[in-house]
Amino acid sequence: MNRSADGSRGQDARPQDAPEFSARLHAVANDIAKLLSGLLDGQALPQERMRPARLVAAMRHAVLNGGKRLRPFLTVETASLFGVPRGQSLMAGAAIECIHCYSLVHDDLPAMDNDDLRRGQPTAHKAFDEATAILAGDALLTLAFDILARPQTHPDPGVRSEMVLGLARAAGLGGMVGGQMLDLAAEGRFADFPPPKDAGAIATLQAMKTGALIRFACVAGAILGRAQPAQREAVETYGAAVGEAFQIADDLLDLTGDTATLGKAAHKDDAAGKATLVGFWGPDRARQRLNGLIEDAVAALSLFGERALLLAEAARFVAKRRS
Ligand code: IPE
Ligand code: IPE
Ligand code: MG
Ligand code: MG
Ligand code: MG
Repeated sequence: MNRSADGSRGQDARPQDAPEFSARLHAVANDIAKLLSGLLDGQALPQERMRPARLVAAMRHAVLNGGKRLRPFLTVETASLFGVPRGQSLMAGAAIECIHCYSLVHDDLPAMDNDDLRRGQPTAHKAFDEATAILAGDALLTLAFDILARPQTHPDPGVRSEMVLGLARAAGLGGMVGGQMLDLAAEGRFADFPPPKDAGAIATLQAMKTGALIRFACVAGAILGRAQPAQREAVETYGAAVGEAFQIADDLLDLTGDTATLGKAAHKDDAAGKATLVGFWGPDRARQRLNGLIEDAVAALSLFGERALLLAEAARFVAKRRS
C-alpha cells in the first residue's frame, strides 16, 4: 500500500487519474490529517483527566489512519467555486470526516459488519476494545458538531447553524444512521422489520447510508459560500449522484477487489446477505448504472464551466478507483 509519512493513502489514486486531481486530493488529505490531529490535541478542557488518554488514542486511531478524504475534498472544491477561504472549508471537511470515521468504527463492530481490518490496519475495536471503539465513535460524532459551531468554520452564526442542521440531517435518522439500519435489516436479521425488496428500496438505503453524507459534503461548500439557489441545486444534484455512485463502486470493489489493495476485507457482502445493486442486478448492469450516475454528476456541473473541472474529475475517480 502506498502510504505517505502522515499515513494518508491519497497517493493511491495517482497512477489511474488526472495528475492535477490526484495532487489536489493528496493536498487536502494532508491538510485534513494535520487539522484533525490539531483539533484532537487542542480540545482544551479544564483538567487533563477530562481527556481520557485511551479514548483520545482510539479517536486518533480512527481518524489518523489514512483514508482517501474524498468527502473533505468535495467540500473544499465546491467551496472554492464560491470563493470560500480554504481554512473555513477545511474545518467543515474535518467535521464531515469525523462523522465518516465514526461511521466506519461503528460499521466495523462485531454487532454490525464484524470487520477486523480498516485502511490496512486493525479496526478500532481490535486495536482497543469494543466499548472503547463505541465511545470513540460517539466522541467523534459530537466533535463534528463542536467543530462546525466554531467561528473558524464561518464568522456568521446563521451560516454555522445551517451547517449544523445540514450535517445532523445527513448523519442521522433520515441519513447515514437510518441507512445503516436498513442495511442491517437487508441481512434478514429482524423478524419484525423486513428487508428492502426491490432496486428502488436498495437505492434509497444506499442514498441514506452513504449518499447523504457525500451529498452534504458538496452542499456544505455552497452553504459556506452563500451560493445562489440554482448553484446550490446544481451542487446538490452533483453530490447526490456522486454519493449513489460511491456505494455502487464500493460494492463492485467488494466483489472484484482484493483485501490488500482495499485495506479492508473483500468478498464479504454476498455471504453477509447485504442488499446491493451489484447483488440485485449483477455487476454489468450495476456498472452501467454507476457510469450513468457519473455522467449525471458531470452534467450537473455545466453551470460552473471550466471552474468545475476538478469536481468532474472527482466524479470519474469514484468510478475508477481501486481502493
Ligand atoms: C468507505 O468509505 C465506506 C463507504 C461509505 C462505502 P471510503 O471508501 O471513503 O473510505 P476511506 O475513508 O477512504 O477509508
Ligand atoms: C458503509 O458501507 C457505509 C457506512 C455508513 C459506514 P459498507 O459497510 O459497505 O462500508 P465498508 O465496505 O465496510 O467500508
Ligand atoms: Mg456496512
Ligand atoms: Mg462495512
Ligand atoms: Mg462495502
